[in-house]
Amino acid sequence: MEMSNAGAGGVPPKLEDDDAAAAAAEREPCGGGAPRREEKERWRRELVVGCLVALLLFAFFVLGRESASEVLQIASSKLSAMNGGFTTKNPSHGGGAAKHADELLGGLLAPGMDRRSCRSRYQAAHYYKHFPYAPSPHLLDKLRAYEARHRRCAPGTPLYNRSVEQLRSGRSAGGVECNYVVWLPFDGLGNRMLSMVSGFLYALLTDRVLLVDLPHDSSDLFCEPFPGATWLLPPDFPVANLFGLGPRPEQSYTILLNKKKITAVVNNDDDPASKNATAALPPPPAYVYLSLGYQMADKLFFCGDDQRALAKVNWLLLYSDLYFVPSLYSVAEFNGELRRLFPAKESACHLLARYLLHPTNAVWGMVTRYYNSYLAQASRRIGVQIRMFNFASVSVDDLYNQILTCSRQEHVLPETTTDNDNDDDLATAYDSNSSNGGGGNYTAILIASLYPDYYVRIRATYYEHAARGRVRVGVFQPTHEERQATQRLFHNQKALAEIHLLGFSDELVTSGMSTFGYVGSSLAGVRPTILMPAHGHRVPAPPCRRAVSMEPCNLTPPRLGEAECREMAAVVDKEDVARHVKVCEDFDRGVKFFD
Ligand SMILES: *[C@@H]1O[C@H](CO)[C@@H](O)[C@H](O)[C@H]1NC(C)=O
Ligand SMILES: *[C@@H]1O[C@H](CO)[C@@H](O)[C@H](O)[C@H]1NC(C)=O
Ligand SMILES: *[C@@H]1O[C@H](CO)[C@@H](O)[C@H](O)[C@H]1NC(C)=O
Ligand SMILES: *[C@@H]1O[C@H](CO)[C@@H](O)[C@H](O)[C@H]1NC(C)=O
Repeated sequence: MEMSNAGAGGVPPKLEDDDAAAAAAEREPCGGGAPRREEKERWRRELVVGCLVALLLFAFFVLGRESASEVLQIASSKLSAMNGGFTTKNPSHGGGAAKHADELLGGLLAPGMDRRSCRSRYQAAHYYKHFPYAPSPHLLDKLRAYEARHRRCAPGTPLYNRSVEQLRSGRSAGGVECNYVVWLPFDGLGNRMLSMVSGFLYALLTDRVLLVDLPHDSSDLFCEPFPGATWLLPPDFPVANLFGLGPRPEQSYTILLNKKKITAVVNNDDDPASKNATAALPPPPAYVYLSLGYQMADKLFFCGDDQRALAKVNWLLLYSDLYFVPSLYSVAEFNGELRRLFPAKESACHLLARYLLHPTNAVWGMVTRYYNSYLAQASRRIGVQIRMFNFASVSVDDLYNQILTCSRQEHVLPETTTDNDNDDDLATAYDSNSSNGGGGNYTAILIASLYPDYYVRIRATYYEHAARGRVRVGVFQPTHEERQATQRLFHNQKALAEIHLLGFSDELVTSGMSTFGYVGSSLAGVRPTILMPAHGHRVPAPPCRRAVSMEPCNLTPPRLGEAECREMAAVVDKEDVARHVKVCEDFDRGVKFFD
């Protein structure tokens, strides 16, 4: 039920935009504290520098050069974080992790971007309940190098103009400094976010620049993620009709291969004949279209030989609705780099999504208004995301029972008391301090679903029965749009707002195979309890499973025999791949990252 006093009663937490409103909640890197604010700030800075220098010397002399350079990287990211300012005030609501929220997420986000044009970028850290994985120093290096490259090569630069000229001329050739991957929209919002993240990681791995072509329905969803340059593809891009190309246009990789307009490059340095073969290859085309959607038309993309061929192509157009990151792990070209970037495999999407996908002010306004009205005072926030697919539909009763059985099995939603329980106990719970707004034992359940049915039932449950343990329960659902309408901007904005609200949860229940739920879990940094899809329209048993990894599932991984990918057997440590890329909890034909 909605607790009317929960939203209106308390003072909404204040989050300040400007740098002036600063500084109460900073970290004390070397401990200690000084009395006055300005003094404290300067003193703290000096102390931190001192600590870091000492650490650096220690690392250099005692641990050797490599550790010293690692410490140096951490130090420089720390200092740049300080210069960017730990500025936003710690909100007064009960987020445990928010207490010491570092708004740049441990250096994941570059400092110095405009706060007002994209408020979520600086404020989101204060809302997330969890931040389980610090970015690795190698990831930070890679991101800063990427940002520099993006600034050099972005639309509006001379280098971009040169690359576009090359494209107009029809042939890739040497001498062009910038190479690109152009992301194209395909499928619903969750799918798009996952393929954007995948495309960005691919750009990181291949020294390319990610540009996106956003249709009107996505025009006001995401902020520019990179400092000092745009990621939007200019409208005069020379390839026509980008949104209408479909899965298999003329320039798709596999078609070009079949027509021998491009040739996979066999890497065999010991065999001089193969070098000659390489020299005799046709010049690569100016652009190649990669169809990596659920049909996986260009699955050879995931072979090393083919990656070497694609490396010579200036422009790659990426058409995908998948989170294909786990499938890059078995490509020899990328395996080692992925290990260094993500020492914890399950942190990949979590970190990349928080780096890349910042909602615009229009969306962020919805997120924060809703949060402050209904969720801020809760001491525990549970997100429940419910999606029913046509191929796995069951009755509302069946799915509702599945949710309840799951919740009892995994102890997610607060349990209710039976009629015989002591009423006095409950009376106390509601009388005491319900007006202080402090939360106490207040649990907010946020339902994200296209339909109102589950919200209505769950709310009724906590109206008709009290929750055990003096817990007050509020049940909320921001929207119920009845059906997905990806072609409408306002629909997408509301959907994106809900994904972010899910991202602020302490715990999550999500629907299996739903990319919406995958993105919510990744943003939250939470391993969700996943409701199993009702394959064959049969209520699944067990009703749900607790995820072992917070990574999204790649629902359509490439199925490649060793004959197709020659080097796969030889170069990659197959045991390691088998350990880290395994079948998804919710779909046995999908794969995902595990640690
Ligand atoms: C790039 O080319 C466009 C026209 O194609 C031109 O208007 C613009 O000035 C050029 N920019 C640079 C930096 O060369
Ligand atoms: C490689 O090609 C060059 C000329 O194209 C030829 O002279 C040379 O003998 C070839 N080498 C091998 C090992 O085939
Ligand atoms: C109500 O809250 C106040 C302060 O927040 C506290 O001192 C008091 O003990 C609380 N009363 C009950 C009945 O919990
Ligand atoms: C809140 O509820 C939990 C579980 O019912 C209980 O263990 C805990 O003591 C309660 N906390 C407060 C402050 O009442």
